[in-house]
Amino acid sequence: RTFRIAAIPADGVGPEVVAAGRTVLDALAARSGGAFAFDWTEFPWGCGYYEKTGLMMPEDGLDELADYDALYFGAVGWPSVPDHVSLWGLRLRICQNFDQWANVRPVRFHPGVVSPLRAADSTELDWVVVRENSEGEYAGLGGRNLAGRGPGNEVALQTALFTERGCERILRFAFDLARTRSEQKVSSVTKSNAQQYGMVLWDELFARVAPDYPDVATESVLVDAMSAKFVLHPEDLSVVVASNLNADILSDLGSALAGSLGLAASANLNPERRFPSMFEPVHGSAPDIAGRGVANPIGALGSAALMLDHFDLPAEAARLRAALDATTAAGVLTPDVGGSAGTDDVVGAVLDHLAG
Ligand code: NAI
Ligand code: MG
Repeated sequence: RTFRIAAIPADGVGPEVVAAGRTVLDALAARSGGAFAFDWTEFPWGCGYYEKTGLMMPEDGLDELADYDALYFGAVGWPSVPDHVSLWGLRLRICQNFDQWANVRPVRFHPGVVSPLRAADSTELDWVVVRENSEGEYAGLGGRNLAGRGPGNEVALQTALFTERGCERILRFAFDLARTRSEQKVSSVTKSNAQQYGMVLWDELFARVAPDYPDVATESVLVDAMSAKFVLHPEDLSVVVASNLNADILSDLGSALAGSLGLAASANLNPERRFPSMFEPVHGSAPDIAGRGVANPIGALGSAALMLDHFDLPAEAARLRAALDATTAAGVLTPDVGGSAGTDDVVGAVLDHLAG
């Protein structure tokens, strides 16, 4: 079967890591003996496109993407465009309109990469952050210059949205995911002591849904305590489910604990499969290292593995993850994880392990 993939490399290191992913996925397809293939279309959207057109993507860009089997995304953002304009104009526009309400962000530790968490090998640790990806603090509700108060005395409002449907579906998604893992546990994260409406609704729904999964252990933890737990007791974690903002922050913490933001993979899923899902590294466009050939491609390659899972090719996904582990274990590491390899060196090592 041929999978049609829309690649949206966008800005900064995005094109460098998307190119890495395409190379590796095409190599996997080439050795599948015709069992599967990838048909790529690349869309030149992002901040460069904005400078030419005033838009991050064409008005009808979503229509252009709608029929692909998946979207493979790099990163968006460049200093020439305000970040809220670039993020909302491309990445969030896609996530929201394609109802990619579940963002799955595994925290994986890689052999050969020293984690700040422990000097010793942490590769036995792995947990996954499930992020509510359609509402919460990133619902886009609010406004500026409220009550007629202008510059110097401005009032701005940023409102979080919590719906029963939105919370319940992400909580059930987390429980279903926990059932596929060796440790069947869901940790729900809120700040319901201080945020007494939406977060309390979330907590209540968690308590209501949990009895449907009697085989899954549960805990409800405040986000500040959970951030400490990530550092002090990560072995207690399996599936961590949280709202849009809280999970965004926790997943960056998780990837930093694994060794670098450049390692972390993510999937923005439309679980009903009415719209394409989008696979992207957790990191941003990294303007400080863009164009130098040193971006860590492991996060983008791990995202490619999540895409293979989504295509129902679990053996291929496992093969790719094993090649990533073999590459880091052999010390082929980019500067962000203490090595001196370039992006291409990492890709070359991954290809060698896939061929071997
Ligand atoms: P960032 O993730 O781009 O960079 C943070 C730090 O991590 C930098 O020191 C960077 O060099 C390093 N880093 C990130 N990815 C790396 C990789 N693959 N290899 C090696 N090092 C890597 O976050 P920052 O600096 O806050 O944001 C930069 C731009 O990216 C902004 O415009 C922001 O809005 C955007 N952004 C986009 C995201 C997305 O497209 N999903 C997510 C986060 C930020
Ligand atoms: Mg983030």
